[in-house]
Amino acid sequence: MNDVSDAKNPIVDPAVVAQLKSWGGYVDAKLGFRNHWYPVRFSDELEEGKPSPFQLGGEKLLINRIDGKAYCMADTCLHRGVPLSEKIECYSKATITCWYHGWTYDFKDGNLCDILTDPNSKMIGNRALQTYPVEEAKGLVFVFLGDVAEGDKPPALALDLPPGFLDEDRYALGIRREIGSNWRLGAENGFDTTHIFIHKDSTYITARDAPIPLGFATLPGLELDIHDRDDAPKGVVDPLMGNYQPVFAAEIDGKPALSSHRPDGAHQTIFRISLWLPGILTVENHPEPDITQVEFYVPIDERRHMYFQVLSKAGVTQPEQVQRYREEFTSLHEPLALRGFNDDDIWAREASQSFYDDDRGWLEEQLFEADHNLIAWRKLASDHGRGIQRPPKTGAAKVVEKL
Ligand code: FES
Ligand SMILES: [Fe+2]
Repeated sequence: MNDVSDAKNPIVDPAVVAQLKSWGGYVDAKLGFRNHWYPVRFSDELEEGKPSPFQLGGEKLLINRIDGKAYCMADTCLHRGVPLSEKIECYSKATITCWYHGWTYDFKDGNLCDILTDPNSKMIGNRALQTYPVEEAKGLVFVFLGDVAEGDKPPALALDLPPGFLDEDRYALGIRREIGSNWRLGAENGFDTTHIFIHKDSTYITARDAPIPLGFATLPGLELDIHDRDDAPKGVVDPLMGNYQPVFAAEIDGKPALSSHRPDGAHQTIFRISLWLPGILTVENHPEPDITQVEFYVPIDERRHMYFQVLSKAGVTQPEQVQRYREEFTSLHEPLALRGFNDDDIWAREASQSFYDDDRGWLEEQLFEADHNLIAWRKLASDHGRGIQRPPKTGAAKVVEKL
């Protein structure tokens, strides 16, 4: 967006504008941050020789598996701009042919390697579609949405993942869903401590005997752990303990109004929460003590994100442990936690979208004390995002020089 501080609004507090300016890059990152790794599929969804279209940061892309390895290429024919995925035609293992006039591209480097309707064309070998690096880890397929100079490598995938996610003894299982809100409303919903208010009616609480307070009263001296070293993942960790007092009973005008489930005796609690670039939440000790819930909010376009909900469990290395975890995931965690509990988060994000749709919401919102961790995240993302993803130009061809 353009400079939001130019927006005319007589009721806006100047202090809010000053605060906003300190994280202006975040407001600009409507399509996400460029030059970062994003998950786009689970590995078991990507079949050999079956190109699959998807959108990332507003760009139409195709992903395919060839001899076991995944490749990602633009889904826009250079000739007349049609999506190749409109009618997928592959006449050799490593290529895709445009259904319209037969321009044929190599998946590995995007090169226009042949034109089936005019094999004498001088365009052959002189044009290429944009390709992006792909890596697979922990059952997820990641695409590097960014620009890598010839002979260079993208930043390591581990720099765009929460610390520990790639640990050898951890096993990850998850689901993904398309959500009708900007990716930032997803990221902030998860990290926002007082949003717990929306979960007070969840069956997860009674079924698991979980302590879910109505909210978290802020205590003096709020502290966050800011990770901003160059050679490590960038994120904000909220330790929870020491920052807040859980609220289990609320009053209005001094009279009891509402209370929430507070089990007696020992019970599990969430250990801490954190939010990492380019938009990944971790909730430790949730939904079980040895599981970390990891959520990726992947920008599809300005108004949609792909919500990856992944549960990463420690101590799962042997085939029988994997089998047991899969059963536990399918019968318990997926229905109760990822769908039952997190469905509340989804409608909350979608209900927030219209307020932020034209970006004025970033200026007009009135944050309160408990939102301090969101401000810290916005500043961190603004300072350390590797670039702003801009709306794609269609038909931008890489011109390959002929030797
Ligand atoms: S539009 Fe694709 S070959 Fe003509
Ligand atoms: Fe939530």
